[in-house]
Amino acid sequence: MIANKTMLLMPGDGIGPEVMAEARRVLDWLEASRRASFRIEEELVGGISIDTHGVPLTDAALAKAKAADAVLFGSVGGPKWDKVPFEIRPEGGLLKLRAELKVFANLRPAKVFDALVDSSSLKPDLVRGLDIMIVRECIGGVYFGEPRGIETLPDGTQRGVNTEVYTTPEIQRVGRVAFELARKRQGRVCSVEKANVMESGLLWRQVMTRLREEEFPDVTLSHMYADNCAMQLAKNPRQFDVIVTGNLFGDILSDLAAMLTGSLGLLPSATLGARETSGRMPGLYEPIHGSAPDIAGKGLANPLAEILSLAMLLRLSFGMEEEADAIEAAAARVLAKGVRTPDIALPGRSPVSTREMGDALLTELGA
Ligand code: IPM
Ligand code: MG
Repeated sequence: MIANKTMLLMPGDGIGPEVMAEARRVLDWLEASRRASFRIEEELVGGISIDTHGVPLTDAALAKAKAADAVLFGSVGGPKWDKVPFEIRPEGGLLKLRAELKVFANLRPAKVFDALVDSSSLKPDLVRGLDIMIVRECIGGVYFGEPRGIETLPDGTQRGVNTEVYTTPEIQRVGRVAFELARKRQGRVCSVEKANVMESGLLWRQVMTRLREEEFPDVTLSHMYADNCAMQLAKNPRQFDVIVTGNLFGDILSDLAAMLTGSLGLLPSATLGARETSGRMPGLYEPIHGSAPDIAGKGLANPLAEILSLAMLLRLSFGMEEEADAIEAAAARVLAKGVRTPDIALPGRSPVSTREMGDALLTELGA
């Protein structure tokens, strides 16, 4: 039994608290069945933290996140905070968390469950068996580059600036994660940038090429421009194994890849940092979906992405392979039985609520 692992839950805004509540029940099951015992804490993040503390992430919450063995995140943001100053917007809480935890590699799997091939917006034949891993650099690039800001020019017009910037070590460390993942999969990495337009992309391509030659000669590396990658994802997504790319392209391409699977409500993600000498590795786990304020509080949200994020946490941060496998297999069986939340509803069958999806999953787990 794994004891004394500290986990920080940050449900956040919108549907975050509802889906987190279902993940929490899975944690309770793990403890009740004596498979593990955790020290679980909870903290505010995003809009709810702005409402309570005036900032999207307090120093105290950040300190707890840093001290925890892993952080399970819900979602942040919503129209309620549209008018707050840019510096304290809810999304800033998540970005600060990523940057401060130094979690640079965002792993976003896009995997199609057999039971859901018909839910994809692409033809079933194109997505059956789809299993892509997008590795998105997460604490650099244009999201964090300097200079940035809005300035007023002498003629009274304004100028908005952001900077796309990547250094050799930043490219190498995320590249290594992608190559190592590929070794456990089909052995293929596709590196994505705009080397035809941007110097940062040109450097990205050169560094990836060298890294493969020097450290991963057994892995196949290809390069693709980001616009072509978007097209190829929609045209023939199964050509990809691992995609590695920068922060902004990764943000966009991972939404596209996610949608190929039928629902954003199903996809987890893990954001990992470098393993420390103690063996500890910072990990932030979050569903790919956002806070979906339009359906928040109505029991309509699909909790599986949050629950599958928990499975990734158990596997990658706590080494609990068996439990992670059990949760993932239970999710697949629930879907195969036709239990569906509204996002993936079957024609002629009434969808279940967030809670009922949690119930169905726990039943499959034998709870
Ligand atoms: C994501 C989200 C975030 C991002 C937002 C909420 C800051 O879109 O995780 O993909 O852009 O990284
Ligand atoms: Mg995004």
